[in-house]
Amino acid sequence: MRSIIAQKSNRNDIVEKIVSLSKRKGFVFQSSEIYGGLNGCWDYGPLGVELLNNIKAEWWKAMTYREDVEGLDAAILMHPKVWEASGHVENFTDPMIDCKQCKARFRLDTLGEGIADKRKDKIFRAFKEKENNFSDSDKEKIENILSSEMTSNEKFEAILEIKNVAASFLEEVNCSQCGNKGTFTEPRNFNLMFKTFLGSVEKTENAIHLRPETAQGIFVNFLNVQSSSRQKLPFGIAQIGKAFRNEINTKNFLFRTREFEQMEMQYFVKPSDDKKNYDTWKENRINFYKELGMSADKLRFHDHPADKLAHYAKEATDIEYKFPFGWGEMEGIHNRTDFDLSQHEKHSGKSQKYFDDELREKYIPYVIETSAGASRSFMAFLIDAYNEEEVKGETRVVLKFHPRLAPIKVAILPLVNKDGMPEVAKEIEADLRPFMRVFYDSKGAVGRRYRRQDEAGTPFCVTIDTQTFEDNTVTVRDRDSMEQIRLEKDKLLSYFLEKLR
Ligand code: GAP
Repeated sequence: MRSIIAQKSNRNDIVEKIVSLSKRKGFVFQSSEIYGGLNGCWDYGPLGVELLNNIKAEWWKAMTYREDVEGLDAAILMHPKVWEASGHVENFTDPMIDCKQCKARFRLDTLGEGIADKRKDKIFRAFKEKENNFSDSDKEKIENILSSEMTSNEKFEAILEIKNVAASFLEEVNCSQCGNKGTFTEPRNFNLMFKTFLGSVEKTENAIHLRPETAQGIFVNFLNVQSSSRQKLPFGIAQIGKAFRNEINTKNFLFRTREFEQMEMQYFVKPSDDKKNYDTWKENRINFYKELGMSADKLRFHDHPADKLAHYAKEATDIEYKFPFGWGEMEGIHNRTDFDLSQHEKHSGKSQKYFDDELREKYIPYVIETSAGASRSFMAFLIDAYNEEEVKGETRVVLKFHPRLAPIKVAILPLVNKDGMPEVAKEIEADLRPFMRVFYDSKGAVGRRYRRQDEAGTPFCVTIDTQTFEDNTVTVRDRDSMEQIRLEKDKLLSYFLEKLR
């Protein structure tokens, strides 16, 4: 067998193939599809929900089956003051522009991504001719950017970050929707939180937000969890849950959506221990993906430079995956210092201090946060598992999920739908089903049934054939090597449980 994915598929092809496979096999559907879909929202089908649940279960085990981390499930709706204290009301914004002609809306900081480099160079040249209109200091900034080693895209972004020149620069840019030039509005900030109303009256005092991150539910429960579980520093609180962001541009399938799931853990530490714990969690988290079979050469850290840190962070890194459209963040690890707890202390008037009985003093702990996207890592696991191989002159599509992530663990296939084989197959199904997700399939040639399971990512297929009646054995086919062994049917359960450990 030979992998042919690199030769046959270009980068966008792969995402398109995965979107189409996702629909065909029941991993992911467009939300409200019969009404034309809802932008930025997706539904997880029968195989998708299994994969997503398996990812979340692995994360939950890795993060909470330890003595220093407790679990939590906080409400999605929270007191409005939470988002003032956290800084989200003021800072959780994206700069955006609208095209006055066609009304399309764009995120200013990603506008350049949709423009070819050649076109960008033309824009830079036209813009340079106008530089005498700017102050000396802005002129110097522009010249430094244009003569730097940055990529065209980075130059594009950097110019748009210079406040007094952004509007003039935009005059040279064509709208990618309608093609008109000079039709953009001035940049303005757009808050990404979804607003709704508590109770029946839609008035300003009743406005609340859908949470844009699960983390704040953890911060406001810090002392509840600490006192009820009698934890001492360092300890963590972990939570999995939905988050909502009214993203201006959703894109790349599940990568940037408006409704998604996060798997977050806040690790509360003595302030002087922040660096040590930050480094430990960095390694711990990247290993999580590797241990679940994600290709190590497609994983890397991207440390944030000091001038790009979020308002709450002292140090931050992203665990990035090499998606077909480029490197993209899958998880953020942040040293959030005492920012959040101090803010909640200030805004609620309730002390958030921890009493350290060894030091005999009270202080606000620092927080190391690990914040993973369940939906985004779902997409990375799906892409990483996707393989096209040439087998006996035919293309085999196979999802090589780690067995613990695979939606279906074992397919049970009677070779023919007669001669007592379905009865034995049903017995095996009944033995295995209480312990793992299995699938019974008796329709079509066995080769075709294997291919269907390869596309679903099922790691093992059990086939009942005539020899089963002679020696009580069945074949067990391995998805990745396609090798088959014979095993006594009474030993199947312990064999698979061992493989899934
Ligand atoms: N509490 C910190 C926090 O929320 P973030 O970097 O904004 O940090 C963490 O988000 C993770 O949540 C990201 O690494 C990504 O996996 C996921 N995420 C964020 N926005 C997303 C979106 N619009 N669609 C899908 N996943 C998203």
